[in-house]
Amino acid sequence: MELSIVQPDDWHLHLRDGDLLEAVVTHSALHFRRAIVMPNLKPPITTTAAAVAYRESILKALPENSHFTPLMTLYLTDKTSPDEIKLARKSGIVFAVKLYPAGATTNSQDGVTDLFGKCLPVLEEMVQQNMPLLVHGEVTDPEVDIFDREKVFIDTILRPLIQRLPQLKIVMEHITTLDAVRFIESCSEGSVAATVTPQHLLLNRNALFQGGLQPHNYCLPVLKREIHRQAIVSAVTSGSKRFFLGTDSAPHERRRKECPCGCAGIYNAPVALSLYTKIFEEANALDKLEAFTSFNGPDFYGLPRNTSKIKLIKNPWKVPESYTFAFGVIIPMFAGKTLEWLPYTSS
Ligand code: DOR
Ligand code: ZN
Repeated sequence: MELSIVQPDDWHLHLRDGDLLEAVVTHSALHFRRAIVMPNLKPPITTTAAAVAYRESILKALPENSHFTPLMTLYLTDKTSPDEIKLARKSGIVFAVKLYPAGATTNSQDGVTDLFGKCLPVLEEMVQQNMPLLVHGEVTDPEVDIFDREKVFIDTILRPLIQRLPQLKIVMEHITTLDAVRFIESCSEGSVAATVTPQHLLLNRNALFQGGLQPHNYCLPVLKREIHRQAIVSAVTSGSKRFFLGTDSAPHERRRKECPCGCAGIYNAPVALSLYTKIFEEANALDKLEAFTSFNGPDFYGLPRNTSKIKLIKNPWKVPESYTFAFGVIIPMFAGKTLEWLPYTSS
């Protein structure tokens, strides 16, 4: 069995920099034509000038014949100025601004503490420039149970934000709950959308503890209960235009995952497309796969759909146990497991 679909884009990707960037970028470039590249480097990408330089380093790290196009983002801080948004739009290489509530996740310590105060002029300029806001949708209050942080974020931040700025384009990134699905479905189509990762579609929170602590299944937002997993599977396989592919592939060296205070992030770039296909197949919705992987994202961002194609062949293959580089080892999602669908690009 074989499927042929328009080449997908990844609307949420961590490529890192330096050695790690060189190690991982090829995996994304093999399957995806474009990717929204997250700005949570150390230091974060807070200016257009930094985004231009980061983009250059990504292009340099690509294999020679690659057509992969990085779509850059800015990291929103309390100090970001409206002029920076104008510059970003003018650059033609920045496609969105990422909101990390300060302390929510990896390298978010410089994130936002005062969204409705200091950041308001920037958000207003983003409306003017039609620049989407990408949201890490979790509150950071340590009093809030970690499994409830997405829901509380929706109620206390996202709803008021949309009421205040109904014209702001928003992508709620890596949604994990039934609450988020209902919320996205209640918003105006074309104005608010969501990305969905393979891990949140395939795993529930049992996967964190099955047979012992499983650090390679730890990401943020953390995996949730089975009812939430089922809700997001239904949402993406329904054919709704509001949901699209965003892997949140987030590589960390093995020693930073398998240690007393392990980093959040799942490296799924090599397996993501196989896994999304599996999810749609199991839901009897392979006819809806292409819209999710290749149409809904560019349509939301107002970008052209890709014209290149990719094949998905039913040909079982084994995911490597690990990827070894001079600087260390990266463990992929579903390491050592056999997957059914093999992505294949001719060029
Ligand atoms: O699990 C995660 N890893 N979630 C994020 O929000 C950030 C990411 C990373 O950068 O490692
Ligand atoms: Zn992310």
